[in-house]
Amino acid sequence: MLKKTRVAVLVSGGGSNLEALLQSQVSGAMPFGEIALVVSNIQGAYALERAKQHHVEGGCIPSRGNPEFEAQLQDLLVAREIDVIVLAGFLAILSSDFVGKWPERILNIHPSLIPSFCGKGFYGLKVHEAALERGVKLTGATVHFVNEIPDGGRILLQKAVEIHPEDTAKTLQQRVMEQAEWVLLPQATAQLCEELAKGVNHD
Ligand code: GRF
Repeated sequence: MLKKTRVAVLVSGGGSNLEALLQSQVSGAMPFGEIALVVSNIQGAYALERAKQHHVEGGCIPSRGNPEFEAQLQDLLVAREIDVIVLAGFLAILSSDFVGKWPERILNIHPSLIPSFCGKGFYGLKVHEAALERGVKLTGATVHFVNEIPDGGRILLQKAVEIHPEDTAKTLQQRVMEQAEWVLLPQATAQLCEELAKGVNHD
């Protein structure tokens, strides 16, 4: 029996991407991975409730005004023998120092087709506002590894989503989540877990 890849999911809010990951685990679509830990940087994030419902360890390490945030996070990840970190609607910025400790071990989902509408300042609804403003007809989502460049790491998966003439940033955000994010993030996570469990070199 191969040892499962241990996954920590970092969240800040409602946790719909976390839910997609948890559902994918329940359905058996992540046979080589185990969601072992959920960490929120925001107190009271609903995502922690979702972790609880699935009997996954969850906890909060506040990032705001906490210079020890990354050190505390790192200690917890090491203590729980985490192999892979998945950023799922996680809104704090991780330093190059932290990211450098996890080369090709941190996955992020970004709600556009990188390299469009990405990088510094492009998060949440702002991404969709920019896509609508520019008048593109297709957008989507991208799963990529996190490195020291915002949204700059190696791309794993992308999926396109159509923009409708009547779209607002909110309706577009919802469609991108339903059609792309909730599909791609579990898929990429399962893929990386399988590669790591089978010893495919990612360093
Ligand atoms: C949305 O802004 C989505 O586009 C982005 O994360 C947010 C969803 O957060 N990638 P959550 O997973 O429901 O907490």
